[in-house]
Amino acid sequence: MAATAKVEVRKGLSGYFSASQGRVDRWRSVHRLAKALAAGSSASEALRNEALEELNSLAPLEELCAYPGPALMATLKERLQTRDWTAFARLAQRISISLLSNSYRDDPEAWKADEDGEAHTPEVLPPGIARGQARKPYFEVLVVTPGERSTWEATRESLRRLRRDSDSFIYEPVVVGSFEDAALAAIVNYNINAVVIFDGFGYPSQHAVPDLREILAAHVPAAPSTDADLGTTLARVLNTYRPELDLYLATDRDVGALAGSDEAACIRRVFYGVEEMLEIHLSILDGIAERYATPFFDNLKKYAQRPIGTFHALPVARGKSIFKSNWIRDMGDFYGANLFLAESSATTGGLDSLLEPTGNIKVAQEKAARALGGDRAFFVTNGTSTANKIVHMALLNPGDIVLIDRDCHKSHHYGLVLAGAQPYYIDAFPLTQYSMYGSLAIRPIKEALLALKAENKLDRAKMVVLTNCTFDGHVANTVQTMLECLAIKPDLIFLWDEAWFGFARFSPFLRRRTGMGAAAKIRGMMRDPAYRERYNAFKASVGEIDAKNKKVLDTPLLPDPDKVRVRVWETDSVHKSMSALRQGSIIVVADQDFHRIEPMFKESFFTHTSTSPNQQIIASLDLARRQMELEGYELVQRAIQLAIEARADINSHPLVSKYFRAATPAEMVPAQYRQSGIADFGAPGWSVAKTMKALDGDEFFLDPTRITLLCGNAGYDGTQFKALLSNEYDIQINKTSRNSVLVQININNTRSDVALLMKALADISRAIEKRLAEGGEKEKAIFEARVKSLVTDVPDLPDFSRFHDAFRDNPKSAANEGHMREAFYLAARPEACEYLKLNSKELDDRIRNGPEVVSAKFVIPYPPGFPILVPGQVITDATITFMRKLDVKEIHGYNAAMGLECLKPEALAQLKGKAPAAGAAQRSTKPSPVGT
Ligand SMILES: Cc1ncc(COP(=O)(O)O)c(C=O)c1O
Repeated sequence: MAATAKVEVRKGLSGYFSASQGRVDRWRSVHRLAKALAAGSSASEALRNEALEELNSLAPLEELCAYPGPALMATLKERLQTRDWTAFARLAQRISISLLSNSYRDDPEAWKADEDGEAHTPEVLPPGIARGQARKPYFEVLVVTPGERSTWEATRESLRRLRRDSDSFIYEPVVVGSFEDAALAAIVNYNINAVVIFDGFGYPSQHAVPDLREILAAHVPAAPSTDADLGTTLARVLNTYRPELDLYLATDRDVGALAGSDEAACIRRVFYGVEEMLEIHLSILDGIAERYATPFFDNLKKYAQRPIGTFHALPVARGKSIFKSNWIRDMGDFYGANLFLAESSATTGGLDSLLEPTGNIKVAQEKAARALGGDRAFFVTNGTSTANKIVHMALLNPGDIVLIDRDCHKSHHYGLVLAGAQPYYIDAFPLTQYSMYGSLAIRPIKEALLALKAENKLDRAKMVVLTNCTFDGHVANTVQTMLECLAIKPDLIFLWDEAWFGFARFSPFLRRRTGMGAAAKIRGMMRDPAYRERYNAFKASVGEIDAKNKKVLDTPLLPDPDKVRVRVWETDSVHKSMSALRQGSIIVVADQDFHRIEPMFKESFFTHTSTSPNQQIIASLDLARRQMELEGYELVQRAIQLAIEARADINSHPLVSKYFRAATPAEMVPAQYRQSGIADFGAPGWSVAKTMKALDGDEFFLDPTRITLLCGNAGYDGTQFKALLSNEYDIQINKTSRNSVLVQININNTRSDVALLMKALADISRAIEKRLAEGGEKEKAIFEARVKSLVTDVPDLPDFSRFHDAFRDNPKSAANEGHMREAFYLAARPEACEYLKLNSKELDDRIRNGPEVVSAKFVIPYPPGFPILVPGQVITDATITFMRKLDVKEIHGYNAAMGLECLKPEALAQLKGKAPAAGAAQRSTKPSPVGT
């Protein structure tokens, strides 16, 4: 990317993804100018004008934030105007540093105009800060008022007066006077956690700032024709944008009727008139306390503080065997006493049982469901690997058909073996040039469903399993995918594996593309009379939905609102993108038929869950939820911003970009799935509105936080480069492909981390330059050959071939589902298996001339962890060629010394047409009785 594009990213998109980061940058610039003025720069008049311009352009943003607030802003401007450079520089520094370090949230000094002077406006200091009490969490409350600007300070003051020392939290009010300013404040001010709306305000913003207008236009519907119900309209807009916010409405309308109405459903409390200030204040604190409360963690802390004698298993509980030990006391020193005090195998005494929660775990799960947008949620303490198996076993019966991306995580494939359901494998689109798969497009899923319908097997198609987003960042269009599938099979269940995507719920951009975000949207659509009209028109123009209808594949399908059952499941590795301990995972459910499968869900949960679940993992799930509900919006926006900056840093660096590249959306998502034409984040001319269009309409969107760093041009394969980063630069990454590594940015990363990566890339690039400069023609030739082999001579990616006829009900069927469980258990009999060496002539001859070679095992290169062979699959030339070129060293299910484990042709011949192998599920072609 050119340098100009980079500037665009910083100036344009940063305003969008992280307005607060852009704001901090501006304040740093004010500080820099102030320092130059104080140092007596000869260009003082020009600097002064520049500083004034920066302050003026900051002013509209500052009106939406409590700190530094109107009083400090006025003082600063006055010092600039009176040319008191030293005092101006002092205050500019104080504000800039406070914003950068967030110290204004708990440091009284930040709120003062001068170091040892009184606070400039003592009354603005939150009392917990001013009186040196223990730190209380700080937030800001947005107050939307019809009052004149001259009354705003009194409004702020009336709320401040209600503060008490016993309050658990401290907040500062931010007052605005219009719909647009309120919406803008919620977008750009991360500190806002509650909104008090006094009805009667107008619509237009008081500021004419193009950047902010553009941000607003992308989120807020056109101005309503009347001001009458702006309060509830604003509440709905804010609720859509930031569902975690507590919303309060004070109005003189008929509050009784309003409070019970659908239009006010997202409002936490409705007040009559303005005379309820104390109630409003208490409600605000109560709302925050509700989100802050972590019922399981809170109880665990209490439990740890009690003098409890334990007479059950788990000697580490209370830590006595550790702290008194002669030999493992360092274990205690390292982990600290609390870990052991908080360990218990009990489910009583203030704790709860994960297996049958009735107390604080139950409440913690209900809160998690709310936070993640589901009807219910279940904590899982052994990772999403287990969460997926729980869902498969709960929802599937032997004989059910599951449409599944072959590149799904291995837990799904094992889950299908356990459940005895038959996978119908569908291939994701390949990204051959990077030796990776993309994601599963809608069209092949439709084709598969239509093939099943044509063979009267649609009733057995129970579920679709999809990864969202994929390891490499392909984010599905969850709404469109589900609508089109439901149009063919209205009660299909969707399992969205969002192991990597849990954080997306807290991004207003990505939320719509989560399973739960889409489930909510589809529920709304099915109730909407306008949708019914759309559906009727669609039905009249498209006709019967079956394989014979030529229009069906090329037309976006709409489901029948009278038939649709919304049945959506989502599994999130909370530990992968939020602050949970490793293995902390969650199942989130929006399934209108949950009541029908609840008993099976329990059985499945019992099957897979340890009877000794880890207390600390459960507590961390509770805490991760608290964090995301209170600061997830800020953290996720910052992570996205950081990722966009990192991408621009890599691709615009003159030397680094010679050898490395952050793959852009245009490179990662083929054009047919990028209908909006989005090519890169923040490319010149690319507006916020167009990004929203891409998010709404494109079949796939690239998650900016997952950066495929192409390293083939530097002469490194992914595995080598990963080792180099780890051994030489202390940089850990996880996934590799033949010519790339995956750099993941999450809520834990900072600009310093990106700087560390950039330094490493620059060092490595310099070393390559030196080697090439000093190595002569020979070195150059070696390097070029290596690059060519990595970048150009890439192996084709093998599609799923087919199940061997022995594992198919009807080998002639166009649908490809197979009895994988039967193959899996046939392989348990050593006499049924044979080994063929990967590089042998025997294997080549067998593939060419038969008898067919059939895999006995899942063969799973790790990473990324999806199978290139499954039990019962016919092995083809394509798979063998790919395996021979594979750069990954760890391949589960394959022992190089022994060779590929295959099922003997005699064993397959015996099986064909006979009873199922021992241990296999009974072949059943009947639809399962449960949950269809
Ligand atoms: C798509 C996907 N699903 C599930 C998992 C398993 O998650 P966990 O590590 O939480 O068991 C992974 C792990 O990498 C994954 O990539």
